Amino acid sequence: MHTLLDLERYPLDQLQSPSLLALVERCRQRLARHGMFDLPGLLQPEAIRLSLAHVGPLLAGASFSHSRTHNVYFEQSVPGLPADHPALGTVQTTNHTVCADQIQDSVLSEVYAWPALAGFLARVMDKPALYPMADPLASVNVMEYRDGEPALGWHFDRSEFTITLLLRAAGSGGAFQYRAAIRSPQDPGYDTVAQVLAGRDPEVRTLAITAGTLILFRGQSTLHRVTPVSGQSRIVATLSYCETPGVRFSPAEQRGFYGREA
Ligand SMILES: [Fe+2]
Repeated sequence: MHTLLDLERYPLDQLQSPSLLALVERCRQRLARHGMFDLPGLLQPEAIRLSLAHVGPLLAGASFSHSRTHNVYFEQSVPGLPADHPALGTVQTTNHTVCADQIQDSVLSEVYAWPALAGFLARVMDKPALYPMADPLASVNVMEYRDGEPALGWHFDRSEFTITLLLRAAGSGGAFQYRAAIRSPQDPGYDTVAQVLAGRDPEVRTLAITAGTLILFRGQSTLHRVTPVSGQSRIVATLSYCETPGVRFSPAEQRGFYGREA
């Protein structure tokens, strides 16, 4: 794994080392304060090169392209929210996805399955354990956002947290923007959602991300988007872990996300 990840800087497998304990603590604090943390340069340059060489032809010729207009909830309506409330304003998303079954035996599948990575993320998140998904399509995805397309519109994720690994930054644009801690079980934060959609929320942050950076963010309570790309496309992997082993999507969910069943 040393050839794939920078384990000098991030000693994820040195469970009792002071530098790992310090890293876990730093990530926990950033997660508590900002709803996210990043590990710049986690994926080594050669591993990035290999991954891009592998997924490039798949993205070009065998990816699932999906364009849609949606609101931040991906729902037609929200109980208790009038249909004309500005929090239900629509945005657009276009992405091109390569699924896990297309990148078996790859750098990405190896990194994803490495128990020390899931163990580290679980520790930071204060979970007893995290497990790779058993879903043959969803466990590791690679997404591309291309020149002139709307990229990824503002939204919340279904899952509590989301983990991404940037393989290639956009020529320009393609920025990851987020607004943490918008909603909780007690407060849906509709007015803040409306302010973000209107471009008027002062708490929106833009994260400068370089290739090889892993990000974990609380996507269920953090509104986030990727701004439109110009020039070179943006290519990012998403790594999905669950708190229980064996989690799979239903065939209907697979069709909805990927246009096919496994
Ligand atoms: Fe998301």
